[in-house]
Amino acid sequence: FRIAVLASGRGSNLAALLAARDRGELPVEFVLVASDKADAGALALAGEAGVPTLALSPRDYADRASFDHALFERVAGMKPDLLVLAGFMRIIDGAALTPWAGRMINVHPSLLPKYRGLHTHRRALAAGDTEHGASVHFVTAELDGGPVIAQARMPIEPGDDEQRLAERLLALEHRLLPAVVADIAAGRIALRDGRVCLDGQA
Ligand code: GRF
Repeated sequence: FRIAVLASGRGSNLAALLAARDRGELPVEFVLVASDKADAGALALAGEAGVPTLALSPRDYADRASFDHALFERVAGMKPDLLVLAGFMRIIDGAALTPWAGRMINVHPSLLPKYRGLHTHRRALAAGDTEHGASVHFVTAELDGGPVIAQARMPIEPGDDEQRLAERLLALEHRLLPAVVADIAAGRIALRDGRVCLDGQA
């Protein structure tokens, strides 16, 4: 089972995926790590792990659609079974997404459908929530709006601020994402008719 990872930032979720693979808990082949930022930590991590990397800059393309077309054409060339967005901080053109329906997932730091988009920790605190969490979902044209596969929850403690929440939640993401990828690779989770099916049942 071949996976490609798209990441814009430090790449701690990528590191968690690679660590799970190294522990024997994630029997997948990493065929590509791609980024829209040439200096992304994720690319350096991939290089150290011997995974092929690709960096494309949106500045080199006329518009979103042409950047996404170029990016996903290169990604498709590596023939991944699954694309994992792990901190890929761009909205993806709908036409580029269509061929990947049911084969692209994203990790998002909120209990979706709450807090799509940015600043999720700040918004959970501002709302006075007592619980926070992370979600892994199939990617659709709706930003952070695709069908949710799995979530991890944690209490918000008195005295929590944005940074403490982000740190605690990241640790949960690092367990949640590899577990979901392993389930998809094993055929235990799939998207059918726009709905998440567990145990590969239709
Ligand atoms: C994570 O919090 C992820 O949920 C969000 O961006 C962050 C990426 O962190 N979409 P990292 O680059 O994997 O360390």
